[in-house]
Amino acid sequence: MSKDIKTEYVAALTALHRGRDRKGPGDSDFSHHILSNFVTLPLKPRIADLGCGSGAGALLLAQHYQSNVMAVDSSSIFIDELKARAKQLALEHLIIPIQGDMAKLDWAVGSVDLLWSEGAAYKLGFEQALQTWRPLLANSGIAVISEMSWFTDDVPEPAIAYWQNAYPMMGSEAENIDRASRSGFSVLSTHRLPSQAWWVNYYEPLRERMQQIEITPSTELVIYETEEEMRLFEKFSDFYGYTFYILQAT
Ligand SMILES: C[S@@+](CC[C@H](N)C(=O)[O-])C[C@H]1O[C@@H](n2cnc3c(N)ncnc32)[C@H](O)[C@@H]1O
Repeated sequence: MSKDIKTEYVAALTALHRGRDRKGPGDSDFSHHILSNFVTLPLKPRIADLGCGSGAGALLLAQHYQSNVMAVDSSSIFIDELKARAKQLALEHLIIPIQGDMAKLDWAVGSVDLLWSEGAAYKLGFEQALQTWRPLLANSGIAVISEMSWFTDDVPEPAIAYWQNAYPMMGSEAENIDRASRSGFSVLSTHRLPSQAWWVNYYEPLRERMQQIEITPSTELVIYETEEEMRLFEKFSDFYGYTFYILQAT
């Protein structure tokens, strides 16, 4: 893909996700359930949401802990949406919006107690993300990272073929647990996001948005790809999905 075509493609993808509260599959009740199972964090934990989109995680964490959240995303459009949502929810004083690259954070070693990242680690590759972010965590700090994962060993061929093309580094949960262990974490627990959350909170709002956006060759391509992804998930959601890895820095 040439640089111009890539820029247009990212703009079309951003246009499709604009105004959606979630830019990837996730669920607030599910996130609260994860937080309720935590080992103790400091009373006012230092929190970061990396690849935060318009703040699905950051806003929930700010509300839950009443503590500051450094919210990082490369998209200025999503960061603007985050600022507007924080204002609406009267959480502006707790959200620190940062437009930047989550792979190049110059924060002090050990400066984060809770690192959260939903649906974004794949941009760096799960293991690369863990290795890049590990130094940011305080002693015994916690990372909650969702990652596309194979749920079984007998995945049907069409699902393998699709994801080998879309995300060749996608691993099984066992592989991801090994990757986390090699990167300086112990795995406290893993939780699979229910497939219902994909439909209700992500795919259905995207379907609605597909009716609204201006059709150009780029948006047409992005819509086609998203519909293809949905058709695959409809058939094969028992075989893959997002697993949330709850990790502790060792
Ligand atoms: C699938 S979305 C998930 C967003 C959000 N966590 C959510 O669940 O709604 C992935 C996000 O990662 C952001 N992103 C991709 N590469 C990035 C990078 N290198 N640095 C910061 N953000 C990045 C994208 O702009 C996008 O908002």
